[in-house]
Amino acid sequence: MSGPVLPPWMFTEFDPVGVDLDSPASVQVYDDNQGTTTAKDDELLDRLSVAEGTVFVDLGTGTGSLPVRAALRGAVAHAVDVSENMISFACQHAGANGVSLHHHHAGFLSYEHEAGSVDVVTSRSALHQLPDAWKQVALNKIATMLRPGGSFYLWDAMWSFEASEILDQLPAWISAMAKPEGEGFTKEMFETHVREEFSTFSWIIEGMIERAGMVIDDSSFPAPWYGEFVATVPLSEGQ
Ligand SMILES: C[S@@+](CC[C@H](N)C(=O)[O-])C[C@H]1O[C@@H](n2cnc3c(N)ncnc32)[C@H](O)[C@@H]1O
Repeated sequence: MSGPVLPPWMFTEFDPVGVDLDSPASVQVYDDNQGTTTAKDDELLDRLSVAEGTVFVDLGTGTGSLPVRAALRGAVAHAVDVSENMISFACQHAGANGVSLHHHHAGFLSYEHEAGSVDVVTSRSALHQLPDAWKQVALNKIATMLRPGGSFYLWDAMWSFEASEILDQLPAWISAMAKPEGEGFTKEMFETHVREEFSTFSWIIEGMIERAGMVIDDSSFPAPWYGEFVATVPLSEGQ
């Protein structure tokens, strides 16, 4: 994969580690495996008050399901992903729905948006692609691209169990979630995620969001292995 030229010390985000979601075959089945539905997407966009004219950026967009639903309600929707196959699928999906996306072959670390001009940034199931130090770089960038009062929504595989339980909880996660071949993400895919990707504890993510200068408004952990945060860039005095 190619992308913008980055400094040699920069994390190589255009060569994601772990489970290969980039092949055309993987892209085709991704939404079914992930359990993505338009109803769930719309519910999230309602929660985040995404409406006509909202400037909306989805980082690690995958098939673009969320920005397409945002564009359908009149938002100015940006879809960002390091996978050219995912971006191309997202554009086709948008076209099939009669909308267009601002699409960007870029990642958390390389995407540049006019500072302070975005109303809502979302990222689902993607931030774990970065090691923790680079997650912080990504979160700092998100806080900068959002306008004061703008919202950030994060959903990801993250650990909210007790730190002492980790060696029991990781195999428990794999057993609980893995599906037979052809029916969803397999045991081997979850094993690869745990071994090679960079999911981390929810308390680390929480601290990083706060250190990026955002205020956490809401968080929930529907299972010990997944969580979400909704955060806001604070208004400065007089705003
Ligand atoms: C598990 S998928 C999630 C897709 C979508 N957000 C969803 O919820 O269905 C992860 C996506 O993140 C993308 N990705 C991996 N590393 C990335 C990075 N550094 N910056 C942006 N996207 C990245 C992958 O190409 C993939 O499309």
